[in-house]
Amino acid sequence: MTNIGSTGRLAFRGAVAMFLSAVLCAAPAAVQADPGSADGVAVNEDGILTVGYVMIGAESDWRLACNRSVAEAFTRANGYSLLVNDAQQKPEKQIKAVREFVNQEVDYILLNPIVESGWEASLEEAREAGIPVIVFDREVDVRTEDAFTAWIGSDFYLEGKKSCAWLEAYLAEKGLEEEPLGIVHIQGTPGSSAQIGRTMALDDALTRHPQWQLLDRQNGDFTTAKGKEVMVDMLARLGDRIQVVYCENDNEAYGALEAIREAGLTAGPDLQAGQILLMSFDAAHNGLQLTLEGKIAVNTECAPLYGPALTQLIQSLERGEMLPEKQYVQEAQFSGLEKPARVEVEGEIYDVTPLSQELIDRRKY
Ligand code: AHR
Repeated sequence: MTNIGSTGRLAFRGAVAMFLSAVLCAAPAAVQADPGSADGVAVNEDGILTVGYVMIGAESDWRLACNRSVAEAFTRANGYSLLVNDAQQKPEKQIKAVREFVNQEVDYILLNPIVESGWEASLEEAREAGIPVIVFDREVDVRTEDAFTAWIGSDFYLEGKKSCAWLEAYLAEKGLEEEPLGIVHIQGTPGSSAQIGRTMALDDALTRHPQWQLLDRQNGDFTTAKGKEVMVDMLARLGDRIQVVYCENDNEAYGALEAIREAGLTAGPDLQAGQILLMSFDAAHNGLQLTLEGKIAVNTECAPLYGPALTQLIQSLERGEMLPEKQYVQEAQFSGLEKPARVEVEGEIYDVTPLSQELIDRRKY
């Protein structure tokens, strides 16, 4: 797991944590069900915490790593019974899953939201039932501060800003900063924090650079299949006007690369030679391999291994400790190119980590 940086405001969450802890102490013993299923038969068992995981799906390499990390951390040996409800990328299924876990009287709910909106009512039901909800990875957009107990996840807007800062620095390095640039954008699931933050950063950059032209923008839903489908369509309509593809995750980049190859074109950083420069997010194992090969020019990390941090949050709540309101995970940026070696975002300098095969071989996902 990456290091966790935290942002202040402990007191309010702490009070909620202590209150919930008191409520839970007075509640009946934990409900336990068949591992890995939200439909299991509930029985009481002392000493085991039942945790309902409202999962997004299995759309990407990143998501598989995230789900695996949760499953590996919340084992019976570690004192948990994990119930998983896979929403298969359907927001309405997630809301239903929260309600089902409330009805099952689980001890904690882990919520990995597909989209930010639509959470008021179901989170209020969990709150009224005294069940702490830990939101992670993406965010929920709610009016009340105490709608959930804790949040840990990515700063997707910063990820996008680092990515665009890399492109700016790369173009300057090549003396191309004043040249017109044709960009296509493959977005992630609409309404998800990852899509919102990464898209906002590109929009900001487009405003700063009037010579950059956004040729097209389509939803790739964070999947290889959809990424390929939209890239095929864009190539058919826009052909060699496409110089840069801003993909919102690695799987979309895999799909875009297939489409580029099948169209007889070449992905790579050499814009002057007519190559198509790909930008991606996640930095999963295969994404990094393609980045080392230059097929992806820059890959901005999104950290997926939440399991250990989530168990730590629950253990803190069990001890009645105060929790930070928000915790951002630290994330790196990778390129197979030597330059730029660092990027600047709003006065902050971020290193671009040079890739090596050894680093990729150590990557667990
Ligand atoms: O929320 C994290 C994003 O969702 C990752 O970038 C992506 O791969 C995933 O599906």
